[in-house]
Amino acid sequence: MKKLHPVLPAARERALIDNDAYLAMYQQSVEDPEGFWTEQAGRLDWFKPFSRVKDVSWDADDLHVRWFDDGVLNACYNCVDRHLETRGDQTAILWEGDDPARDEAITYRQLHSRVSRMANVLKELGVVKGDRVTLYMPMIPEAAIAMLACARIGAAHSVVFGGFSPDALAGRIVDCESKLVITADEGLRGGRKVPLKANVDAAKSRPGVMDHLESVLVVRNTDAGVPMQDGVDHWLHEREADVADDCPCEPMGAEDPLFILYTSGSTGKPKGVLHTTGGYLLYAAYTHEIVFDYQDGDIYWCTADVGWITGHSYIVYGPLANGAITMMFEGVPNYPDYSRFWQVVDKHQVNICYTAPTAIRALMREGEGPVKATSRQSLRLLGSVGEPINPEAWEWYYNVVGEGRCPIVDTWWQTETGGIMISPLPGATDLKPGSATRPLPGIKPALLDADGNTLEGEAEGLLVITDSWPGQMRTVYGDHARFVKTYFSAFRNRYFTGDGCRRDKDGYYWITGRVDDVLNISGHRMGTAEVESALVAHKAVAEAAVVGYPHDIKGQGIYVYVTLNAGIEPTEELRAELRQWVRKEIGPIATPDLIQWAPGLPKTRSGKIMRRILRKIAENEYGNLGDTSTLADPDVVDDLIANRLNR
Ligand code: WT7
Repeated sequence: MKKLHPVLPAARERALIDNDAYLAMYQQSVEDPEGFWTEQAGRLDWFKPFSRVKDVSWDADDLHVRWFDDGVLNACYNCVDRHLETRGDQTAILWEGDDPARDEAITYRQLHSRVSRMANVLKELGVVKGDRVTLYMPMIPEAAIAMLACARIGAAHSVVFGGFSPDALAGRIVDCESKLVITADEGLRGGRKVPLKANVDAAKSRPGVMDHLESVLVVRNTDAGVPMQDGVDHWLHEREADVADDCPCEPMGAEDPLFILYTSGSTGKPKGVLHTTGGYLLYAAYTHEIVFDYQDGDIYWCTADVGWITGHSYIVYGPLANGAITMMFEGVPNYPDYSRFWQVVDKHQVNICYTAPTAIRALMREGEGPVKATSRQSLRLLGSVGEPINPEAWEWYYNVVGEGRCPIVDTWWQTETGGIMISPLPGATDLKPGSATRPLPGIKPALLDADGNTLEGEAEGLLVITDSWPGQMRTVYGDHARFVKTYFSAFRNRYFTGDGCRRDKDGYYWITGRVDDVLNISGHRMGTAEVESALVAHKAVAEAAVVGYPHDIKGQGIYVYVTLNAGIEPTEELRAELRQWVRKEIGPIATPDLIQWAPGLPKTRSGKIMRRILRKIAENEYGNLGDTSTLADPDVVDDLIANRLNR
């Protein structure tokens, strides 16, 4: 399946960048990075221009990352206000409801007034520049409006995915000391209600939350009658009724925080990834334009949720900074039926569709019928993100969904990188199914062996980036030492991605997956340690070890080994209870797929769990366990193999 798909003539013809232009741009970006990024910074409107492009040290002893440091701008101004003159009546956000009968087109002018009004409400509730605001929202326009309203007044938002539990929400509110939460009465997904306000109420009772939280701003969405706490909970529509329609944009330093977004790492607690104003916005706008070959009037749809970085960079900030028409979808791929994605494409005449391999595989399982029932003639470009896309799914996406007319951009990046790093450009790059292909201009990847030696040419190793780019994260909120340790301590002066990767003879990159204890479940990151600590919090559990295993739809599934406390019977009921328990503790995305009872776990004599062995057993590769001579009790392994679940 190593088929090469040459650049499609139609894509080359319309594209802003062909292969020669890509090569020239790449060359320029390497030879003169400051000149290159200065030129790119011209994409944004600056209240005050910067005089210094870059002030970066990746030295672990003095780690700092600053771009366009003394420049002054406002992200909301760049995403909204500056478009009013030229495209005030153009659609900015095209919203499609979970219910196919509901949709809404919001023009840049309307967006301006709705953002300004919400910003004024935030101000009335005491939010000032420098504060943090947590968003716990369904996929409704108010989610984007709230992000922009925060940006407008200089408050950093922290969006918490609406599928996370009250505990997960509470932890994130406390960690960044949010003064205010913006939520909705309920969300709606696949015809089912999500009790967002009730979850916020539950979070309020968790330790520490009310030390910081002063108010909860509630959007009326389903009109469910939710209890409102006097003096704390406020309806947006009531507060908005008597605020002004305009609100000045706060002048922000380029390095002032724009947002915090929590993501899982290999240790227990999620990290608050901090992105700042100038570099992030520039990088989101730049990549959105070149990767999707976005041109005026294109109708662009990214199916992600705003709770993830993909939603931040490619539903909200990148597209809106570019004056694009960006679609926001409240629903799911299989509701009311498996044609939904393509019905939405036809209904809104979508030109660019950016989704995840897990969705493609789930749709592929239903066969070609639901796809063929739709036209999809408006589609010009397809995108993939979140995990490696297997060649079978790639070919199906290309041939069945795109009918061989649409290039696929397989975009590799991370919450930490702010935007796309390695990806084809539709008019420039010959495609190889399963490869994210080549780095974007301005990005310098390298492969290292475990000792930190740089590997040249065709090679497989650990993926690092060797020079800063404007979209990189600046720190872990409140824990700079963790930032240094996680990304810059493995290899000197290199940003370590946590991914393994192969480079072929053509210089194409093939991401092989995480090399740390981070799982990728349906394109979402989940730390094994997070799931383990949820499990051991259950009274029946003595010890737990979590690993990933190959899963047809999700890419990776969650495989759990549980050692029960003495005297506890391993029953089917308990298995179901533990799955429910983890769901409740973290959220549905963390639900274990398989739970194996483990009378003991394989440990070294010093007591360290040998995950390598557990991973092999979960992957059914137990014929090749490698060196087991350091095990304290080798018999444990035989029992685990005999009782493995993933046959
Ligand atoms: C991890 C980052 C950034 C968007 C959503 C996920 C994996 C992401 C690809 C791809 C292979 C990919 C990597 C990465 N990943 N995109 N196109 N091909 N792997 O963001 O939650 O920060 O996860 O997702 O393992 O490190 P995230």
